[in-house]
Amino acid sequence: MRVLFLGDIVGKSGRLCMKEQLPKLKEQYRPDLVIVNGENAAHGKGITKKIYHELLGYGIDVITMGNHTFSKSDIYQFINEADRLVRPANMEPLGYGRSTLILQVGSKRIAVSNLCAEIFMNNVTESPFACMERILAGIDVDYHFVDLHGETTSEKIAFTYQFAGRVQAVVGTHTHVQTADERIINGCAAISDLGMCGAYHSVLGRDTQEVLERFVNQEKTHYKIADGPAVLCGLLVDFDDSLHQAVKAERIQIRPQ
Ligand SMILES: [Fe+2]
Ligand SMILES: [Fe+2]
Repeated sequence: MRVLFLGDIVGKSGRLCMKEQLPKLKEQYRPDLVIVNGENAAHGKGITKKIYHELLGYGIDVITMGNHTFSKSDIYQFINEADRLVRPANMEPLGYGRSTLILQVGSKRIAVSNLCAEIFMNNVTESPFACMERILAGIDVDYHFVDLHGETTSEKIAFTYQFAGRVQAVVGTHTHVQTADERIINGCAAISDLGMCGAYHSVLGRDTQEVLERFVNQEKTHYKIADGPAVLCGLLVDFDDSLHQAVKAERIQIRPQ
């Protein structure tokens, strides 16, 4: 089993990058499953029904989310029917959509869960540690992959140690900056943050000038997304299908020419 995890798609630049790069990556690496974070796909905040289908059309199998899940009101119109979208299990508002998605890939039963870390994050209803224990108690699958959406590397690494062996991948998202700490712990592939798929010349996908106006001149700003070609960031993981363990984790970062 080979799985390609990609970081937060940010705005139009990120979506265009999916359209152009994903077919090439799929041709090159032949993943059995492509899991991408889409919490910033609609102009940096949230996702719409149109964009959800657009992204699936580019060859993404599962879209995980984060603190921006409900930033576009359109989400309420389609999230319950969106059977390829996974939202954080421990973040308000609860009661909409799926926080663990089960799918069949070949002969393997796979679960994909999405949780929010606690530190510096808002609207978190429960510790991700307690929440993950509860999810694991009610599930029996061959592979379980987790997108842990959070700010700090410490919380994401600690979570990985807590669940490594019981889940087979913990990929961090949210910071939009890829960490160089990919590794395998007890058969579990891990990286503190996948990074983003968004405009390379930007501040985490946002327009640099606008962010500078806020930091330097303390000006109130809107939310402008940067244009221009995107960097694509992710992790490619190979699993041994008899042991059900990760055996190789390769970090991917493709910068624009
Ligand atoms: Fe994000
Ligand atoms: Fe986020």
